[in-house]
Formats: sequence, C-alpha cells, structure tokens
Amino acid sequence: MSRLNNCLENKKYNGIPIWFMRQAGRYLPEFIEIRKKNQDFLKLCFNQDLSTQISLQPLKRFDLDAVILFSDILVIPFGLGQNVQFEKGFGPKLEKVNLEKIIKTDKKDFLNKVSPVYEIIKKIKKKININEKSIIGFVGAPWTLLLYMINQQSPKRNFEIEKIIKDQELVKNLLKKLEEIICLHIEKQIEAGATVIQIFDSWAGLLPKKELSRYCFEPNLNIVNFVKSKKTSVICFPKDIGKEYLEFYNIVKPSCLSIDYNIDPKWVVNNFNNLPIQGGLDPKILLTDKENIKKNVEKYLEVFKDYPYIFNLGHGVLPETKPETIRFIIEIVRNS
Ligand code: CP3
Repeated sequence: MSRLNNCLENKKYNGIPIWFMRQAGRYLPEFIEIRKKNQDFLKLCFNQDLSTQISLQPLKRFDLDAVILFSDILVIPFGLGQNVQFEKGFGPKLEKVNLEKIIKTDKKDFLNKVSPVYEIIKKIKKKININEKSIIGFVGAPWTLLLYMINQQSPKRNFEIEKIIKDQELVKNLLKKLEEIICLHIEKQIEAGATVIQIFDSWAGLLPKKELSRYCFEPNLNIVNFVKSKKTSVICFPKDIGKEYLEFYNIVKPSCLSIDYNIDPKWVVNNFNNLPIQGGLDPKILLTDKENIKKNVEKYLEVFKDYPYIFNLGHGVLPETKPETIRFIIEIVRNS
C-alpha cells in the first residue's frame, strides 16, 4: 500500500508521506504553458488528456507520494447549472444563484456535465502504480461552496456573513442539495480510482463561533460518514478555525486533519490522540531563503517525530514558488 494510505490508516509505514496542495499549478512552467493555450479554466478542467497530463506533471519532476486530481471545487456549482468563470487576476466569477434551477438539476444532469472528471481519474490510475502512489480526489465542503455560490466571488474581495445567511430558506435548501451532490461527486471519484478524499473547507474561518456547528461541523460530519461508508480515508481541512480544530475533531472524526499555518503544531501533538495530521508549514516560507526554509521544515519534522504525520503546507503552493524549492523540501523530508 502507498505510504500516504498507510499513514492514513494508522498502520506502520516507511517514512513520512509528502505531497503539496496545489502541487499542479501556476508555479510550474509546464502548467503555465498549457494554461496559456487554454484560457477557459473550467474547460481545461474537463479536458481529459490535458487534465491527466497536468495532474501528473508534479510527479514527473518530484518524488511525491500522491497525485491530486487536477480539477476545482467549483465544478460542483457549474454542474448544478450555475455559470462559473475564472477571470485573470480576479479569480472565480459566478452568476447569481437560481435556487429553482439548482433544485431541478438532478443527479443525471449533474453527471452529464461533470463526468469527464471521473474519466481523468481513470486515466491517471492507468499511468501510475497505485501500490506506491495515492490518488487524491477532492470536494469543497458545503459551507465553502455555498459561500462562493451566494457571494458570486471570492470572499477575499467582498464578504458580509449577514448577507450570505440572510435568506434562510435559500441557505437550507442549498445546503441540502450540496450535501447530496457532494456525496455523489465523491462516490464517482472513488469508483473511478481515488484512494483518498480531501474535503476543503477553505472559508470555515469566516464563520462566527456560534455558527460553526451548523455550517461546518455538521455538514462535514455527514460527508465524512459517507466517505467512511465507502471504506475510503478522508482528510478534512477546516481552514482557520483555530482552537475549534479540537471540537471539529471530536465531532467529525475524519481519518486525518490538515492544519493551517496559524495552528501551533505542539498543541496538536498534545491534544489529538494520535489522529494522523497533515500540513501546517506557511506557504510564504517557501518564498524565503534556503536556510530559513530548512529550519521551518525541520521544526514540523521535529514536532511530529513519532507521530503519524503527512508533510504538506498550511495552504496551497503559491504561484511565486520556485520549483526547486519543492525539490529541496522533499529532499529534507526524505532524508529525515
Ligand atoms: O494541485 C492541486 O491542488 C489540485 C487542483 C486544485 C485546484 N483548485 C486547481 C486550481 C484544487 C484542489 C483546487 C481547490 C480549490 N479551488 C479551493 C480549495 C483550496 C484552497 O485554495 O483554499 C478553492 C477555494 C478553489 C476555488 C478557486 N480556484 C479559486 C479561488 C481560484 C482562483 C485563485 C487561485 O487560487 O488561483 C481557483 C483557480 C485555480 N484552481 C487554479 C488552479 C491551478 C489557478 C488557475 C489559473 O489561473 O491558472
């Protein structure tokens, strides 16, 4: 079994597994080259040959333990009939949510739009040895998707929680539909060959404490239980919820928690009962000098010595990162 799957299943394993969120992306010249010729980002995500190639690009260069499917969390709103576009220098732009249209979209309609994703996973599976490498499928968590759908753009730019949750009928219906479709999307990824599922709740940290249970813990729990029912390991990333990571763990009980860079790794080792932990290192550290990078990588390795740990970052690789830095980090981890 691959090093990553072994670690997730809490078995004895040989060395620390390592992969990077956004390992396929804009820091790689070979990705940029394909991207330049393919201006429509979602169309690229559904292009079977190119997306297979992009998913495998980082593994061609580096000694990684997993391939993550090249796709996006926003294929779900798209599959539900909400138009999504990615604008250069702006990010995603979504059309106004039309609840009636979304409710009317059934599983078959969704699969008609999104099924190339599963073909990409099948193609990836043919090109690697799955006893050595994991295939990571993924979804956005209901809250993070709901937020993009109602806000119509990244909350980085424009966000008021009151506006998002004002229309409770809309919120209730959307959450229900999203849960159903997220589970379908996971099921199909597993059937196609994904051996691990990661749930990105990238904007969990925007929720006030009193709303975490309803919008973050409960929906993640439902999805985690679904993944577990498919006998597949599941990594949760409820980014930026601080000490509430502990409550998340106690309620949701995923196979592994991915931590962001605001979490103190020592606190994690002391409080999470040997639950496999992933990530943590601030991606901005990768933009500094080698000595500082090494010091910070070694800090995580030291804290998580004798603990089930997956090396990764506290968020995605930044576009400004030098590919050589990724190689440098892998070397440090492999030699530890
Ligand atoms: O390598 C991998 O990690 C797999 C591919 C992947 C992408 N997006 C490709 C992508 C994954 C796992 C995602 C998840 C995703 N997408 C998240 C959750 C993780 C996170 O970053 O918090 C979110 C919030 C999105 C939505 C999204 N997609 C935004 C906000 C943007 C624009 C800003 C940005 O970060 O680039 C994207 C575009 C996107 N998704 C790119 C890539 C490689 C960049 C596309 C480009 O402009 O070339």
